[in-house]
Amino acid sequence: MERNLNWGLLSTAKINRALIKPLNASKRTRLLAVASRSQSTADAYASEWKIPRAHGSYEALINDPGIDVIYNSLPNHLHAEWTIKALRAGKHVLCEKPFALTVDEVDAVAAAVKETGKVAAEAFMYRHHAQTLKVKEIIDSGQLGSLQLIKGAFSFKLEREGDIRWMLELGGGSIWDVGCYPISYARMLVGAEPVEVFGWQVTGPGGGDETFTGQIRFANGVHMQFDSSFKFPFRSYMEIVGTEGTLIVPNPFKPGKNNSLQLNQGNDATILKVKGGELYMGEVDDMCDAILKDNPPRVSLEDSRANVAVIVALLKSAQTGRNMAI
Ligand SMILES: NC(=O)c1ccc[n+]([C@@H]2O[C@H](COP(=O)([O-])OP(=O)(O)OC[C@H]3O[C@@H](n4cnc5c(N)ncnc54)[C@H](OP(=O)(O)O)[C@@H]3O)[C@@H](O)[C@H]2O)c1
Repeated sequence: MERNLNWGLLSTAKINRALIKPLNASKRTRLLAVASRSQSTADAYASEWKIPRAHGSYEALINDPGIDVIYNSLPNHLHAEWTIKALRAGKHVLCEKPFALTVDEVDAVAAAVKETGKVAAEAFMYRHHAQTLKVKEIIDSGQLGSLQLIKGAFSFKLEREGDIRWMLELGGGSIWDVGCYPISYARMLVGAEPVEVFGWQVTGPGGGDETFTGQIRFANGVHMQFDSSFKFPFRSYMEIVGTEGTLIVPNPFKPGKNNSLQLNQGNDATILKVKGGELYMGEVDDMCDAILKDNPPRVSLEDSRANVAVIVALLKSAQTGRNMAI
């Protein structure tokens, strides 16, 4: 019999809803506790979602001896700080994207992982889905020939005033929130890391970017162009271009149970159907395998570090008007 891992939600963030279902459904996990900055918020949340324990501070959750795994769904500027605190309190951590806001923060998390022997991984849920694995298989099989260019976009209209995504001091901005997905997707496919970037941004009311467009050159010569925005209508796609064909992924970041890819080769366009499971179950299973079976997490710390490095360089490029080497 495998051991049950007790999970705790660090905050009452909206995104928790996506994790609650898989945590309740998995045979290897039990959702035991939630924490909020206020006891009354934690109590109300625990009662709404039938969570046995409610803590009125984040410290109380990470020091709860019954908890094995913390799900860090705090605003971006608190990701590294609380991931490190939780690791040092003896917990494993699944941390929301972006994993951190600087490369130094990722390195500090990596040092805490080394020191404690606990697992920390970034919650890039799309990485575990069958569609993503299929896209990677198609690219690696050489069906597109040699990879040349990747385009991607993730945008939506952010209409909630006061949302954490607007506020620069909380790690806000569209590139951190949604631009991180096409960048991560491209890096996963290319098999080499970016060496040079150029970016433009439009700054929003909270100081973070409300629209970002960027270009990335990879070490093996592949080029990438992407955009992210809180002002554009909802858009989400990846287009992958090789010397012998093009693959279009119309729903790359939040794939569902039934998905379609379009493979264009010469004059032929083939629709490939891909079945998938519950999107957020993948990251829960991956954490369980990492903790209980000692498997390396699918999203490694090096991978998270490289994604953060690209975003930091793109932001610097947008601020200075110059291309940036990585
Ligand atoms: N993977 C995905 O599909 C996905 C989707 C959406 C969001 N995310 C990520 O999940 C994280 C949370 O996003 P969200 O939209 O769910 O956030 P949210 O609803 O605004 O919740 C953030 C929570 O953080 C706590 N908090 C601590 N300090 C805060 C501060 N200074 N201001 C505001 N809240 C503060 C609050 O909890 P208490 O009041 O309970 O302390 C709040 O409920 C972000 O990192 C985001 O990038 C991931």
